[in-house]
Amino acid sequence: MRVANKVALVTGAASGMGAATARLLAREGAKVAVADMLEAEGQSVVAEIEKAGGTTRFLRLDVAEEDQWEAAVAEVTGAWGRLDILVNNAGISGSNTNNLYDTALWDRIMAVNARGVFLGVKHGVAAMRQGGGGSIINLSSISGVVGQQRIHCAYNASKAAVRLLTKSIAVQEGAAGIRVNSVHPGLMPPMRTSGATADPVFRAKMLNHVPLRRTGEVDEVAYAILFLASDESAYMTGTELHVDGGYLAC
Ligand SMILES: NC(=O)c1ccc[n+]([C@@H]2O[C@H](COP(=O)([O-])OP(=O)(O)OC[C@H]3O[C@@H](n4cnc5c(N)ncnc54)[C@H](O)[C@@H]3O)[C@@H](O)[C@H]2O)c1
Repeated sequence: MRVANKVALVTGAASGMGAATARLLAREGAKVAVADMLEAEGQSVVAEIEKAGGTTRFLRLDVAEEDQWEAAVAEVTGAWGRLDILVNNAGISGSNTNNLYDTALWDRIMAVNARGVFLGVKHGVAAMRQGGGGSIINLSSISGVVGQQRIHCAYNASKAAVRLLTKSIAVQEGAAGIRVNSVHPGLMPPMRTSGATADPVFRAKMLNHVPLRRTGEVDEVAYAILFLASDESAYMTGTELHVDGGYLAC
């Protein structure tokens, strides 16, 4: 077991890569808090993990709300005594609009994708300091490194914020034994909130720029997260792991 007896909190764990990560961390021995705004979907991930013999609980959390972060971290440390692994995965897409200059959408995307990660780091670090260290994995994207057509620039800006926030906290918290790394998925199954990027024509065009010529699978991202969560990556912090079929190598 690669993360035996560790305590993990995964945001956006009701769906997609977050759900895959929660399942995998539990299978590898961690106690996993499944945090999301979607209660029914989150509870069904919890039920699956429990059926497989894992230890888990659901937390209702809107990552943009600081009081909810305080309550979520307190619930995890109250129940399981510590926090070793935090996966800041919750996010919303920037491709579900015809107005790429929509100001309200800028604010919402930054609130969830950037502020949400900042708040998670803030409250996660405080809990990890108490336990003598930990590993934080922040979900950025290829969109945090390069620009793209048909996606609101706030998505790229928010994911770039996650990339540098990760390095900043890695520098500041290294001495406390807290590692912070970012994971950058490429063309994956569409997000619940995807618009243009779910369009098969758009996806076919993007695939032409993916050297491996296929879409990634959620478990392929979950395995990268598991590696960064585990002690196998003990000497890695402030780094970015691209899980993109080679997209950023072009
Ligand atoms: N799917 C892709 O192509 C892709 C590519 C690169 C990066 N990413 C990033 O990976 C992460 C996971 O994406 P996914 O494809 O699994 O998406 P998804 O839409 O399947 O899952 C996202 C989850 O986040 C939750 N969420 C959204 N806003 C929230 C909030 N305010 N508070 C708490 N939970 C909230 C949703 O309810 C959902 O369960 C996101 O950060 C996304 O930006 C996705």
